[in-house]
Amino acid sequence: VDVHITFDGRVGRTTAIYQQLRAAVLDGRLRPGDALPPTRDLAEQLGVARATIVGAYEQLAGEGFVAGRRGSGTVVTSVARHDVAPTTTARSKPGPALTPRPMWGNVRISRPFQQTATFDFRTGLADTSHFPFQAWRRLSAQAMTAHSVGNAHYGDPGGYLPLREAIARHIAVSRGVMTDAASVSVTNGTQQAVDLIGRVLLAPGDRAAVEDPGYDPPRRLLQSLGIDVVGVPVDDQGLVVDAIPRGTKLVYVTPAHQYPLGMVMSPGRRAALLEWAQQNHAAIVEDDYDSEFRFSGRTVPPIQTLDRDGRVIYVGSFSKTILPTLRLGYVVAPPSLIEALHTAKWLSDWHTALPAQQALAGFIDEGLFARHLRAMRRCYEQRHHLIVSTLREPRFAEHLEAVPSTVGIHVAATARTATPDEMYRVAARARDRGVIVHLLSWFSFNRPPRAGLLFGYGAISVEDIPDGLNHLLASFGG
Ligand SMILES: Cc1ncc(COP(=O)(O)O)c(C=O)c1O
Repeated sequence: VDVHITFDGRVGRTTAIYQQLRAAVLDGRLRPGDALPPTRDLAEQLGVARATIVGAYEQLAGEGFVAGRRGSGTVVTSVARHDVAPTTTARSKPGPALTPRPMWGNVRISRPFQQTATFDFRTGLADTSHFPFQAWRRLSAQAMTAHSVGNAHYGDPGGYLPLREAIARHIAVSRGVMTDAASVSVTNGTQQAVDLIGRVLLAPGDRAAVEDPGYDPPRRLLQSLGIDVVGVPVDDQGLVVDAIPRGTKLVYVTPAHQYPLGMVMSPGRRAALLEWAQQNHAAIVEDDYDSEFRFSGRTVPPIQTLDRDGRVIYVGSFSKTILPTLRLGYVVAPPSLIEALHTAKWLSDWHTALPAQQALAGFIDEGLFARHLRAMRRCYEQRHHLIVSTLREPRFAEHLEAVPSTVGIHVAATARTATPDEMYRVAARARDRGVIVHLLSWFSFNRPPRAGLLFGYGAISVEDIPDGLNHLLASFGG
């Protein structure tokens, strides 16, 4: 291990080395089994006599922090951290000199994905068991050859051109979005897309609107940019356009499958939203999340396809269609914005990791993406129908009403009579029976929370769904 030691003249050198190594062991920077540098090397590095180092190591060894081992020099012992009280050096740290802006105190990283359960109905999880890992490994390996890597210059901030072409073709075919590679910008998922759009279009203090209940990360992100974010109610047709407050410059919506309720935004509402945007010189961010998994019903074309005025910024993600850990998504922007978005991306992180973009371009071009989508659509469709038909059985329908939906990887159900607090207790009892479900009330922020549950089916097999739902039903009874 390389160690960093400084001398400030306040104590002798042997003591300084001893104290700093001891502090490093106590706070975990040096862990049991880590080898200290050979005394000769450290003496040379610090410009001190070897005896100075030997003295410090002996003192550490005397207190049990390190032990000399034949062949591996001086090594941190496994008892060192627990058995010794912290020294004054470790305790006398000054108070924080730097503190984050107050808003960071209100944002918590959501870590629900670290839980595990026998019956996992959490939303936002995709089934990765059918992913063609072998093909992806081949494409990733190709992207890491000397030939592909080339001179290792940075890539294009807008994204790898063959990937932008592949995305443009894919969404033209699957969603009717007419675009070309020049209008596509590759991002690290939807979340970065919203970040770039916010920075390009809005100044601190500007107003943006989001759905309430809605998907929380974009709201939090816009707030972190100093934007005044307001929640707008949704009804069975989607966002209530008439409720958008005056002065709003940008609206973020999920028309394909409202998150979290799951209904499709009606054609009338889409037209009204577009008209509102035209009249108010505002932007629409259309998050087409989940739209790939449509099981029945007529496809309602994205708002982007109706836009003649350049007001819609269309956002897509590969998080649920491939893997969330790859952090791959894209923006399709009107010509007036695309250059600024590329520039914002460049300022932010130069570009999305090129090997992942290259692998994805191959994955789409070879038809593997379309095949994977078809397979997953069949798989999710089965789970969707099973959950919806079970929820319609009288024993469930007495408690819950499923929100009609024909797309996506989760279904929402509102409570017939229970309050949000009662639903919370149902979910807690279900948790004790090995079932995890998300509460609908978590997704409201300005408006009174709605009581209900969300049934994600990305992480539960069709075989486990009946038992999972039965355990949930038993949790209604107390
Ligand atoms: C509404 C919505 N949009 C987009 C995403 C995907 O976000 P990202 O691409 O940043 O992973 C999610 C993920 O759960 C989502 O719920």
